[in-house]
Formats: sequence, C-alpha cells, structure tokens
Amino acid sequence: MADSGVPNPALLVANCIGCHTGQNTGINKVPYVFDTTSPQYKETGTEADSNTLAGGNFYWVSNIDDRRGHNIYGLVGPDQLLTVPPGGDGTFSGQLRCSGTMGCHGDRTVTEQISAVKGSHHYKDHTTWQLGATLATSYRMLNGIQGFGDRDYEYRPTDLQHNKYYGIDRTAESETSIGTISSLCSQCHKYFHNGAGSLTSSGTFGTGVWLRHPTDYDMSNAVSSDEYQLYNNSATYGNNIYSVISPLATADTSTTVNTKVFSQANDAVVMCLSCHRAHGSPYSGALRWNYKGWPADGYNGCAICHTAKN
Ligand code: HEC
Ligand code: HEC
Ligand code: HEC
Ligand code: HEC
Repeated sequence: MADSGVPNPALLVANCIGCHTGQNTGINKVPYVFDTTSPQYKETGTEADSNTLAGGNFYWVSNIDDRRGHNIYGLVGPDQLLTVPPGGDGTFSGQLRCSGTMGCHGDRTVTEQISAVKGSHHYKDHTTWQLGATLATSYRMLNGIQGFGDRDYEYRPTDLQHNKYYGIDRTAESETSIGTISSLCSQCHKYFHNGAGSLTSSGTFGTGVWLRHPTDYDMSNAVSSDEYQLYNNSATYGNNIYSVISPLATADTSTTVNTKVFSQANDAVVMCLSCHRAHGSPYSGALRWNYKGWPADGYNGCAICHTAKN
C-alpha cells in the first residue's frame, strides 16, 4: 500500500487506488483493480491461469492506450479521444474518479471520494442479496444497484462461482430499469441503454431494427431465430450453462447462484457487462474479448449468444 503523500480523509494512509493496487492471488482480502505490472488476462480474463477480477483491470488503460478502459484520475491522464461519456446526455463532464460525483462507486451526490463511500465500505454483507435500498446494501457500493457478489470477486470464475448480476426484461426503451447493473452504466451512457427513439427503429422496444445493442432484454424474447436458445453451446459445457466469458443478468433476487440459464423466467438478460469489463481490459472498448482482432486473430465471444453466426 503506497502512501499518497497528501492527507487523506478518515485518517487513512491511502486513497482508493492506494489500497486497491496489487496482484490478485486468490487469497488477498482487498480486491485489486490496478496492477503495476501486466496482469494475466489471457483471452477472456476467466482462464485458470488468469489473475484479474470481474471488473478487469486499469493496467492497460494506464499503460497502453485510452481505449482500453475508464481513464481514472490519479492513474492516467484524461482520455484524449473521449471528453464525454459516449451515449451520454451531456450531464457528465470532467475526468472520472472511483467514487462520488465524478465516479461510479458510492453516493454520487457527494463530491469527495472517501466521504462518498462512508458507512458502506467495511460493512459489506456477502451472504444476502444486495437490494440497493441504501449504499451499504448496494451491490459493490454502486448506489442503488442490486446484485449478489462473488466472495472472490470472480478470481478465476466458473459457472458455479461468479457474481450474480441483476437485470430485467424491459418492455419499453424509455424504461430506465433502476437497480440493474446496466442502469448503472446508463447514469453516464444514457442513450446506449434507454431513451425514447434511441434503441429501436420502431420506437417499440423489441420490434424493428435495433439501433443499439439490446440490454435489459431477455433472450427468450428473441423471435428472429432460435439461435439464442443455444446460448453457450460449447463443447465443454453443452447448452445453456452460464458463461463467465459472456455472462447474463437475471431478475431472480435469491442468493442461489445462477448456473444454467433458461431455468426460470427472465434469467437470460443481456447487459453491458455481457461484452464489457467495467474497469478495463487489454482490448479496445474495454471489451471482455478481442472482438476487433477477430476473425484473423482475437476471440469471437459474440458467438456465445449468436450461436448461428460463428
Ligand atoms: C484502507 C484501505 C482501503 C481504502 C482506502 C479503500 N478500500 Fe475498498 N476495500 C478495502 C478492503 C479491505 C476491501 C474488502 C472488504 C471485504 O472483504 O468486505 C475493500 C472492498 C471494496 C469494494 C468491494 C465491496 C464488496 O462488494 O465486497 C469496493 C467496490 C471498494 N472497496 C471500493 C473502494 C473505493 C471506491 C475506495 C475509495 C473511495 C476504496 N475502496 C478505498 C480496502 C480499502
Ligand atoms: C460516472 C460516469 C460513468 C459511468 C457510471 C460509466 N461510465 Fe463509461 N465512460 C465514462 C466517461 C467519462 C468515458 C470517457 C472517458 C474515459 O474513457 O475515461 C467513458 C468511457 C467508456 C467506454 C469507452 C472506453 C474508451 O476509452 O474507449 C466504455 C466501453 C464504457 N465507458 C463502458 C461503461 C460501462 C460498461 C459502464 C457500466 C459498468 C460504464 N461505462 C459506466 C463515464 C462513465
Ligand atoms: C453485445 C455486446 C455489447 C453490449 C451488450 C454493450 N456493448 Fe458497448 N460496445 C460493444 C462493442 C463491440 C464496442 C466497440 C468497441 C471497440 O472496438 O472499440 C462498444 C463500444 C462502447 C463504448 C465506446 C463508444 C465510443 O464511441 O468509443 C461505450 C461507451 C459502450 N460501448 C458502452 C456500453 C454500455 C453503457 C452498454 C450497456 C448499456 C454497452 N456498451 C453494451 C459491445 C457491446
Ligand atoms: C449476451 C448475449 C449476446 C452477446 C454476447 C452478443 N449479442 Fe448481439 N444480440 C443479442 C440479442 C438477444 C439480440 C436481439 C435479437 C432479437 O431481437 O431477435 C442481439 C442483436 C444483435 C444485433 C441486431 C441484429 C439481430 O440479430 O437482431 C447485432 C448486429 C448484434 N447483436 C451484434 C453483436 C455483436 C457484434 C456482438 C459481439 C461484440 C454481440 N452481438 C454479442 C445477444 C447477444
């Protein structure tokens, strides 16, 4: 843990980044989201010899280029290509931080980062579904967001051991679906998720041509073909086993980990994190796999859902 050199609130010797910098080993209690040496991501960040967590890592955006994740103040300079969040409604400007008004975690009405997570940090309950009623009961200190976090933050996840993300099956593109993990992203990237006329050509969610990739949309709705019914039709797992490479959200709020999709209503919900890592990845657009490199190189994670298009 490095001393930041300036006084920190709450008598702490470090800021968010100071405490959360390191290399994950599977036994560290503090989840590390920034590594000073290149983390092992392999192809999808889920392999048995990988060492990043569910959010990915800020290493690549700090060391390679601005496209590989969120440019967090204190780790890297402002993004030279994107000055505002793409898809946003213009309400967010400036460089991102971990928490507070300028960040994703904590109370976004509180400016200072440590104050913004006050009362939640060391009270995390990993045994009950996080209902999002208060900051302390919000998934990963993302205010108002629901979910059930894996105790190891998805260090080498499997279909049996992973985060349970909350999603719903929307009926209207104006529906904001508060509490879902995709709605967190929509706080800054609004029109990628909701807003009349922003998702479908017809204006009716789920009909006509998609203008933006659907999220908070259950795959059992897809009428265009049956390809989604073969989700994760991998040789290793067979059909419908939850894929940690391209995960799905669910409307089920029990603490039973979702291991097989299409087992109950609305458990096959496409979300932003089906394709992206929240912090960053080795790939352009902070994608979970190297989409840009495919088919010459790279990895076709899209085919986990688009099983007829691989
Ligand atoms: C003094 C060290 C320290 C500082 C400073 C710190 N953290 Fe943490 N953080 C931890 C530890 C330890 C845990 C693991 C807590 C646990 O196991 O329940 C943690 C856990 C977390 C988690 C996961 C919570 C969950 O769902 O289990 C998040 C998110 C997080 N920290 C964000 C932040 C942010 C944002 C900041 C800055 C505002 C910050 N941390 C500052 C030590 C720190
Ligand atoms: C508090 C505001 C905020 C939230 C919440 C937020 N983002 Fe962003 N995002 C930004 C800003 C600002 C940028 C452009 C600057 C940068 O990359 O740091 C950005 C850029 C991105 C980029 C492009 C990266 C690049 O540089 O090319 C992706 C992808 C992205 N965000 C995905 C997400 C996802 C997925 C979520 C939800 C897990 C999310 N964002 C939540 C503010 C936010
Ligand atoms: C089906 C996969 C998929 C889903 C789901 C998805 N994205 Fe993306 N997103 C992509 C791809 C592919 C790119 C282009 C990445 C690249 O090559 O740089 C991208 C790019 C972005 C960018 C960068 C745009 C730019 O102008 O640079 C942002 C921001 C972003 N996505 C946010 C989101 C948010 C927020 C959600 C959820 C509401 C979401 N994405 C859902 C696949 C997806
Ligand atoms: C988590 C599952 C999932 C993943 C991963 C995924 N998609 Fe999709 N995609 C869907 C669903 C569901 C639809 C809506 C289909 C419908 O409405 O009939 C869709 C629709 C589309 C469409 C609109 C055309 C159509 O078939 O309806 C395009 C284009 C598309 N996806 C591209 C991509 C690309 C490119 C990737 C990889 C970067 C990707 N998708 C990854 C689930 C997924």
